[in-house]
Amino acid sequence: MRIVHTLADLRQHLLPFRHPAVVPTMGNLHAGHLALVRAAKPLGDVTVATIFVNRLQFGPKEDFDSYPRTLQADCTQLEAAGCDLLFAPSEAELYPQPQTFTLQPDPALAGILEGHFRPGFFTGVCTVVLKLLACTQARSALFGKKDYQQLLIIRHMVRQFAMPVEILGQDTHREADGLAMSSRNGYLSVAERAQAALLARTLAQCAQAVRAGNTAFDVLENQALQTLRDAGWMPDYVAIRRQSDLQAARADAPLVVLGAARLGTTRLIDNLEI
Ligand code: PAF
Repeated sequence: MRIVHTLADLRQHLLPFRHPAVVPTMGNLHAGHLALVRAAKPLGDVTVATIFVNRLQFGPKEDFDSYPRTLQADCTQLEAAGCDLLFAPSEAELYPQPQTFTLQPDPALAGILEGHFRPGFFTGVCTVVLKLLACTQARSALFGKKDYQQLLIIRHMVRQFAMPVEILGQDTHREADGLAMSSRNGYLSVAERAQAALLARTLAQCAQAVRAGNTAFDVLENQALQTLRDAGWMPDYVAIRRQSDLQAARADAPLVVLGAARLGTTRLIDNLEI
């Protein structure tokens, strides 16, 4: 695997290829990321991963400084997963001047759920993803479904700007107890880790109730919130929404239940398609 840190080197190494398949990440890779890399392999003529901890998508009180940076271990894992090229730019390389042009996603989609609790998050995500897709000349790009709203917004962005890239979503990878894999799981204490799968279980109960015909969505959401609070979590939201646009659920549309909650100081998100 080639590792490049500059745009010039990236462009040089991409010259012979017509169809880069790209997995954008912020590093600290887990099995979910590596599954994306393996899924990317047959989609293009070169498999590219990016590692960049994007300051623009972190709020002032969020964990930008403490976000785990594990480049060495990430490289070993990417190589084993069959990645051909890693682009790991420094901040000065990707943002040589302050990024004064940013991308404002539609507030109907980006101002709700995660966007409501993390103002500016999707502006930061879209701005860097647009830039990374342009730099890597991606023709396919893969993202995990754990960040369901992010995936939807990136799909809309690519469509709105007629970008020549196919966006693919991959199912969430889970630990044996159901906890969705996330780089932030590493922040959990042993005691917190032991109860971290409650979020996934609670969403699964909601999904099960909807599948069984329960359409009292508000009641189900409130029950889920209470379950989490009773166990000492601080939930931001549990929401049953339409898969297509994350707007209010209707019984005749494909639905998804999404949740975000803080366990101690760690904020976890998860979702399940119904
Ligand atoms: O999901 C992530 O890891 C990040 O939001 C992404 C898509 C790499 C953009 O920084």
